[in-house]
Amino acid sequence: MYCAQAAPTDATAQMYSFVRLTDPSLRSKIAEVTANAHMATASETLIVCADVHRLQKLLEHRGYVYGDWRAASLHFAIGDAVLAGQNALIAAECLGYQGCWIGGVLSALDEIVTLLELPRGVLPFAGLTIGVPDEDPPVRPRLQPEVIWHDNTYKPLEPSDLETALTRMAPITARGDWAQSLARYFATGGTMEQREPVLRRTLERQGFAVSDVDALYERTEAAGYAELLIRRGGAGFQAWVDRPDRAHGGDGATPSEALRKAVEEAERDALETRG
Ligand SMILES: Cc1cc2nc3c(=O)[nH]c(=O)nc-3n(C[C@H](O)[C@H](O)[C@H](O)COP(=O)(O)O)c2cc1C
Repeated sequence: MYCAQAAPTDATAQMYSFVRLTDPSLRSKIAEVTANAHMATASETLIVCADVHRLQKLLEHRGYVYGDWRAASLHFAIGDAVLAGQNALIAAECLGYQGCWIGGVLSALDEIVTLLELPRGVLPFAGLTIGVPDEDPPVRPRLQPEVIWHDNTYKPLEPSDLETALTRMAPITARGDWAQSLARYFATGGTMEQREPVLRRTLERQGFAVSDVDALYERTEAAGYAELLIRRGGAGFQAWVDRPDRAHGGDGATPSEALRKAVEEAERDALETRG
């Protein structure tokens, strides 16, 4: 715990909490809903949370009014939680233990929030198991450093870089096809799309959500437009951003996609007019 708390933290705020799971039935339940059996059997199982609840309480305790900074709180609290959790994991590894982050908590976020009685302002980032390894796996491959490190500006990715990456990472999967394994998570129909609505619901429930429309309206105003119109159009939606002398439209499968396109048009126009 000392090593976790030694991690650097934004603005001294320490926006994270660890929930240590010691109740065997709670551990089993969470292992089941996250489909990670080792959460039940590891020596230590923690849920690492982004946490601005305590920060809000501290400020209110001294009579301050807590700010509305939902997007920034998600950004900084997850950063703090990851730094502290990874510090704990490295410390454990230095002592001869091994551990594993468990992103599987995202598949059952709402249940975990309820089971752990997490107040608004606390969001599980991931689980973390720590224990004595009963196997000694080989070091696994990583991407070539050339696609990770950039000098001054972001280097465009060439097809040859992508091929090298896929070849280097192939041994990480049993079938030797890393793209196929990535697709199971990140392609359309994959695990991440299943997790997405659960996360969105939980972000709203725990006080971290910023509505697409709020953010898009802020962009609309910043581009000098004051009105929005969204309506159904064909199989999708049409959106317009409007001011007395100009309007820009966009089409999309969802209201926010249509609105985003209209706002992007308005922003391009504002940039050209300014330039
Ligand atoms: C945020 C995060 C979430 C992860 N989620 C899971 C998980 O749900 N289940 C699991 O068995 N491993 C999980 N892992 C472990 C990774 O799969 C593992 O670190 C990765 O495969 C690389 O292995 P290596 O560190 O030995 O190279 C997660 C790791 C991270 C950083």
